[in-house]
Amino acid sequence: MLVASLSGDYPVRVGSGVRALLSETMAGAAPSGRCALITDDNVDALWGREVAGSLTAGGIDVVAASFPAGEAHKTRETWTALTDVLMESGLGRDSCVVSLGGGVVGDVAGFVAATFLRGVPFIQVPTTTLAMIDASVGGKTGVDHPAGKNLVGAFHAPVAVLADPDFLGTLEAGVRAEGFAEAIKHGVILDTGYADWLAAHAVSLLADDPERVERAVRRSVEIKAAVVSADEFEAGRRQILNLGHTVGHAVELSSGYTLPHGHAVAVGLVAEARIGEALGVTARGTAEEVRRLVRAFGLPDFDAGLLRPGHLTGLMARDKKTRSGVVHIVRLLEVGRVGEGDGTTIPVPDEDLVRIMKGWS
Ligand SMILES: NC(=O)c1ccc[n+]([C@@H]2O[C@H](COP(=O)([O-])OP(=O)(O)OC[C@H]3O[C@@H](n4cnc5c(N)ncnc54)[C@H](O)[C@@H]3O)[C@@H](O)[C@H]2O)c1
Ligand SMILES: [Zn+2]
Repeated sequence: MLVASLSGDYPVRVGSGVRALLSETMAGAAPSGRCALITDDNVDALWGREVAGSLTAGGIDVVAASFPAGEAHKTRETWTALTDVLMESGLGRDSCVVSLGGGVVGDVAGFVAATFLRGVPFIQVPTTTLAMIDASVGGKTGVDHPAGKNLVGAFHAPVAVLADPDFLGTLEAGVRAEGFAEAIKHGVILDTGYADWLAAHAVSLLADDPERVERAVRRSVEIKAAVVSADEFEAGRRQILNLGHTVGHAVELSSGYTLPHGHAVAVGLVAEARIGEALGVTARGTAEEVRRLVRAFGLPDFDAGLLRPGHLTGLMARDKKTRSGVVHIVRLLEVGRVGEGDGTTIPVPDEDLVRIMKGWS
């Protein structure tokens, strides 16, 4: 699959064994034959040696850099530490960054690549369902700020994405499930058939059935690739990928990042469908359908953070999706259909949000 980008179209290769393509992909991206392999400490312990070894065997000089796992480390401090490693290793503009890990690693490593010497190429090697299904495609990179998620970052498209489901074999079951929140989002915005298929096969997807997992990654990447290819910098259409994320990011932040991103998205998808129904823009029964999908994957449909709507609207106001001080959510019409053009999102004044969410349980 090819994703269109102003900085050059890039391939997303999905399939068992595609990680073997890393050396040759890397050689095309970095004439110096040098790369920084950025990962977190969990992935490093499980896969670092194999991946670094295959690069070395392919004649690549590897500078390995890892940081402590988890959203709490998706920070400017981690960006600084990694950038220092690259600087001290004398990597030049003819080198590249390889990101090996979940969405946290991809976002941080991508941001390091976007800013190091004003930008070096980077390759995404996602190792979680969430990163394969969603985060590794689209070129959004960045770190969190105490004021909110992803508030410091850059668009920096990868030169290639190698999504190899073999990595998923070492994932904890709970983490494996989290990625399907983004897959559900893809079905809910654009593809009823995919949403139905996900619900029908939740059990085998959670059990890591290789054929079905690969099919889910492919379909999700197809959907995301089509959207970001049409609107790389989120001037319009790409906003539909934020479904569930306006409320989701606020809930995630209010939990102090103890709630995993996939759980926050699941909670946010149900909450935003409920808000849409209350505003009369979303077909009745949609929230219940979304809730069923989320539950099929054992994901949460509610979080205690929703019990404090006044506090949540304060957090949402600092999100990037706020315009002229007013929170916007994606206009979900029904499962598989969202608004278009000027109707892609709807403004929801704080007092309406608080009124709608008051009394939720
Ligand atoms: N840039 C984007 O477009 C985009 C899109 C969606 C989400 N995101 C971001 O992605 C992040 C969430 O990603 P995530 O859910 O992958 O989280 P994550 O990167 O924190 O990974 C989850 C956990 O799994 C571990 N892990 C990763 N691969 C493993 C493997 N193969 N075996 C065993 N353990 C493994 C990690 O060490 C971590 O503890 C959030 O920060 C979110 O904002 C970005
Ligand atoms: Zn997300």
